[in-house]
Amino acid sequence: MANTYFVTGSNRGLGLEFVKQLSARGDVVIGTARDVARAEKDGDHAAAIVPLELTDPASIESLPDHLTDRTIDVLINNAGVSSDSNGLSKVRMDEMQRVFTINSIAPVLVTKALLPSLRKGSRKLVVTVSSQLGSITNNAGGSSYGYRASKAAVNMLTVSMHHELKSEGFTCVVVHPGWVQTDMGGPNATLTPEQSISSLITLIDKLTTADSGKFFNYDGSILPW
Ligand SMILES: NC(=O)c1ccc[n+]([C@@H]2O[C@H](COP(=O)([O-])OP(=O)(O)OC[C@H]3O[C@@H](n4cnc5c(N)ncnc54)[C@H](OP(=O)(O)O)[C@@H]3O)[C@@H](O)[C@H]2O)c1
Repeated sequence: MANTYFVTGSNRGLGLEFVKQLSARGDVVIGTARDVARAEKDGDHAAAIVPLELTDPASIESLPDHLTDRTIDVLINNAGVSSDSNGLSKVRMDEMQRVFTINSIAPVLVTKALLPSLRKGSRKLVVTVSSQLGSITNNAGGSSYGYRASKAAVNMLTVSMHHELKSEGFTCVVVHPGWVQTDMGGPNATLTPEQSISSLITLIDKLTTADSGKFFNYDGSILPW
């Protein structure tokens, strides 16, 4: 049976690929974009697109207004940004706050805004796209201060949501998509968006409440915190 997916940042990169693959197999997909008209014009898929600016709390809070009481089975918190703080000399207050706002705080606020729709869903599944760069155990190289820390923070926030929502049957996980050829990943990345998202959808299809609170690589293996 078709599920309803809500995918943030679906106008390009991994979000666009999620929307394409999920729509193509018959799922109902609601995507988001900052520029809806452009996303609708450029997007070659059947998904509905709603406006979302993650740095604007009012934009996040108004998400339910665009849903006409629709049920959401799976939320994919995909939208994110990289950071310029590649060394202590580059760390700035405004830059760190921007990256934390979009990568760490916004996924939690989006989940909060969509909880009524998710509660009505068959899967009650919240998948947040993190990064292995957020793994403290695997941090062998430093740098990327804002990005690494923002992904470590969203990992922590996901485990907290897992604990709060597990009694309602929710599954909350974080996933690493691999190093992927998008605007963020760059042309030298090892995976195409098609490969990464195909693997992630295979993983997402199998997730159960027993997996809640875990950090998955795109191939289904577990990553260390
Ligand atoms: N690519 C990789 O190798 C890789 C590796 C590990 C993790 N990830 C994670 O995977 C996710 C997707 O990455 P990607 O490679 O697809 O990146 P991308 O190609 O740069 O796309 C980022 C998406 O996020 C949206 N976004 C950025 N800032 C936003 C804001 N303030 N409000 C609303 N939407 C916003 C963008 O919309 P606009 O077009 O409007 O900017 C775009 O749709 C991110 O969370 C990223 O951290 C990627």
